[in-house]
Amino acid sequence: SPVLAHTREELSGLLADARRSGEKVAFVPTMGALHDGHASLMRTAREATTGPLVVSIFVNPMQFAPTEDLDRYPRTLDADLEVCAAEGVDVVFAPSVEEMYPGGFSHDSVHEGVTVAPGALATILDGESRPGHFDGVLTVVAKLFGLVRPDVAVFGQKDYQQLTLIRRMVRDLCMGIEVVGAETVREPDGLALSSRNRYLDAEQRQAAVALSRALRAAQERAPYGVPAARWAAMSVLKDEPGLELDYLALTSPDLGEAPETGEGRVLVAARVGTTRLIDNMAIGFG
Ligand code: PAJ
Repeated sequence: SPVLAHTREELSGLLADARRSGEKVAFVPTMGALHDGHASLMRTAREATTGPLVVSIFVNPMQFAPTEDLDRYPRTLDADLEVCAAEGVDVVFAPSVEEMYPGGFSHDSVHEGVTVAPGALATILDGESRPGHFDGVLTVVAKLFGLVRPDVAVFGQKDYQQLTLIRRMVRDLCMGIEVVGAETVREPDGLALSSRNRYLDAEQRQAAVALSRALRAAQERAPYGVPAARWAAMSVLKDEPGLELDYLALTSPDLGEAPETGEGRVLVAARVGTTRLIDNMAIGFG
């Protein structure tokens, strides 16, 4: 079973031998409350190296706005360690807030220091509803990359804008890390697994499945073009009164304007009660 490190020093001690002997380090960053989606990232990462596989568990305050669910975000370390053990993880890095943000975290004080500016791609879609969110994600991922110094890092397509921004950060800041994007793991009815699904009651759980149904409807109609795909998805979403739509977007694979033909992406975000859910799928236009 994995070794648990709470401090940067413990982490670097645990990785020192592997680093010296040139072994490839694989890394899966998470916020814990681990489910089968996280487990599948670990499986992908496990296959990428015979060297150490590191999983981080850190609920990053910088990526939560003061109004968001930081305090109620689920924290389940014992169960998380069992998931990591079952997937052959070598090291679990579970730092305190103080360890990651010396002096303690506040949005004001952290911006007095150096942070990662995510650029224009962070102002659309989730970035529009969650200003500052991706500054927090990219800053903590850059810090975790600095501590773990992985050769390969695995992220889920579930958070597609996040994955796209991490690829851009690694490219634009010349981090030299291989970023792998893993398929979204779903419930049998199509709902994408998410740590936030546990907030849903039975009725909300029923409403939530409309997200993946809308994406599938868009996929099916995409051969008839962007407007047809959008209409198909919207008609599913409109039929679900339990959903408050934030956005439905049809884009190119890199989140630019949707092409008339060829590969694209369809993305959706909605509120079910107080819980904000997101999902997306690959789509082929024309
Ligand atoms: P978290 O929400 O815990 O997700 C950790 C990783 O698991 C992310 O790469 C996410 O895309 C992936 N993931 C979540 N649900 C998934 C599913 N159903 N199928 C496949 N992969 C899934 O994303 C974060 O944490 C944080 O923003 C983080 C990157 C750790 C920075 O704090």
